[in-house]
Amino acid sequence: MAVLPHFIDVLPSHGRLAQIEFAIDVPEDAARIIPVSSGEGLELPVSQLTKEGLLEALEALGAKGSAGEVTKVVVDGTLFIAVGLGDNDGSHSTDTAVRRAMGAAARALKGTERAVVSADFGVRPVVEGLLLGGYAYDGLKKNEEKDESSLITVVGKEDNHAEFDAAVSICHAVTLARDLVNTPSNLLYPSNYAELARTVGEASGLTVEVLDEKELEAKGFGGITAVGQGSENPPRLVHLTWAPESATTSVALVGKGITFDTGGISLKPASGMEQMVMDMGGSAAVLAATCAAAALNIPVRIDAWMAMAENMPSGSAQRPGDVITHYGGITSEVINTDAEGRLVLADAIARASEDNPDYLIETSTLTGAQMVALGKRTFGVMGSDELRDTIAETARELDEPGWAMPMLEEHDEEIKSAVADIKNTNADRFGGMEFAATYLAKFVGEGIQWAHIDVASPAWNTGGAHGYTPSRATGVPVRTIVDTLTQLAEN
Ligand code: BES
Ligand code: MN
Ligand code: ZN
Repeated sequence: MAVLPHFIDVLPSHGRLAQIEFAIDVPEDAARIIPVSSGEGLELPVSQLTKEGLLEALEALGAKGSAGEVTKVVVDGTLFIAVGLGDNDGSHSTDTAVRRAMGAAARALKGTERAVVSADFGVRPVVEGLLLGGYAYDGLKKNEEKDESSLITVVGKEDNHAEFDAAVSICHAVTLARDLVNTPSNLLYPSNYAELARTVGEASGLTVEVLDEKELEAKGFGGITAVGQGSENPPRLVHLTWAPESATTSVALVGKGITFDTGGISLKPASGMEQMVMDMGGSAAVLAATCAAAALNIPVRIDAWMAMAENMPSGSAQRPGDVITHYGGITSEVINTDAEGRLVLADAIARASEDNPDYLIETSTLTGAQMVALGKRTFGVMGSDELRDTIAETARELDEPGWAMPMLEEHDEEIKSAVADIKNTNADRFGGMEFAATYLAKFVGEGIQWAHIDVASPAWNTGGAHGYTPSRATGVPVRTIVDTLTQLAEN
């Protein structure tokens, strides 16, 4: 199995990541990361990494084992980093507690050259917690700390090695999505984003095809063309294919790739607009998940579509009131140019449906209404009942929380336009997240099970780091998509 690398050399900017390795023997002179819990009192795990006197030393420092707590202590010349799991009151799984504790440990590693942790606490949660939690994006700071990342050794049995490699691939996929989403829009725009997707995709074993603005217009991609026409940076549609011979199931993935969203002529307010660098998060997740599927050799055929455009106001921009023709022929009245994501996605969904996949999963930073409905960390999933529920449940198991949301009957009426087949917003804006799903549903081919994942807020953490989630780009919903693909392969 190939391990997906961290594609530092091809990225315009990237975050800091720890190095990680697998070993059978415990390295000397490494700080030992020990998860501790709060039961009757402080509880140490049974592990070859603990030492006599450690419990007493931690107790003397007042360690309680509560979630997020980090206690450092030296016993017999060895540095121990004890991280609290909490009291496991049943509110989340042990894996989730381990991931979050390892995230806290990773942030406490600054300045520690070598650390060791045991695979006994769960290979995947340990690796994910440490790699994802240790990620930090410094952007283009001139004095960015160079090569100060720690080397972490996960000690286990040879049986754990494959699971370790798989976990590292998943983490590097999440990191790829984070790096792309974190990168400012003057450094990442459709043409170089598409070329980057080509480079990364081909290096991961995918076939890649890029449609430029001329081909898009000639082939009738009216939504992508309309959104992209206001910008000096023309739009792109990227098609990635992973086609293992063993595949009996086919899945289309579709992602929103608005490299910057000003709102267009329906201009957004200035305050907070800089956050719209993240509006390509869906497409980054789709690219990352497809690369991970190849590294993990998941036996499903994947056709991934990244719909890229920059939404700008200008003399050539589309106007409210314009009527556009989507790929496949459905016409749409553009009421609000800031509801641009659905316009580019509609074309990509229609094109993806042409190949008649068994499943179609689309993800996007689509609506502000998502955060009104579900808050900052929980994404909304809409679509076919079964696939929607599978994704929402998978998401919660992975601690990338998702929740099933309905399609609303009233929107079937509200979407009608006097001058086109449909219009892109509903007048009163109620159920804004669900209305967007109704819009997208019009473009899904018959008989295809589909899901729409709205990650508007979960893709971007506006607060400080928590658990294994850093500030800014989170990489949501990469892990959910990868695990869903694995499940669909087993069907
Ligand atoms: N990219 C935004 C959605 C968004 C908002 C993502 C905030 C992350 C944070 C999307 O293109 C948008 O502008 N949606 C509009 C739709 C409206 C005009 C119907 C919105 O949610 O306000
Ligand atoms: Mn918008
Ligand atoms: Zn947008």
